[in-house]
Amino acid sequence: MEEVTRLSMSLPRSLATRFQHYAKERGYANRSEALRDLIRHALVQEEWKDPNAAVAATLTLVYDHHTRTLKDKITAIQHDAGPLVVSTLHVHLDHHNCLEVVVLRGKAKEVQHVADRIAALRGIKHAQLSATTEGKQLV
Ligand code: NI
Repeated sequence: MEEVTRLSMSLPRSLATRFQHYAKERGYANRSEALRDLIRHALVQEEWKDPNAAVAATLTLVYDHHTRTLKDKITAIQHDAGPLVVSTLHVHLDHHNCLEVVVLRGKAKEVQHVADRIAALRGIKHAQLSATTEGKQLV
């Protein structure tokens, strides 16, 4: 396990109080754990600023599968993306609506491009890219 270093910081009392509530409401054992997660989140966002960074992501889609040719277009983009698409999960929500989760992995710019192309298709009701990390640079 990596050595732990201690940081001390100063911040306005009201901010500290709000952060205390934030950590407690989310069930963190202590403020340090909450702060570590916030730092990790910021660092993952930083990773994505490098277009060539190796990242991972999930793209969640909701769409009506009756929309003409939509399913074919989604499939075509995924085929074009090749190894960027690691896996997909499809759930038939009801008679009309499908939910699809696409796991993506590759360069940040390529992952973002695939997500943008699918999200822009007519008939996609909601598309949400969850940008995460391969985890190698986080502890
Ligand atoms: Ni379906």
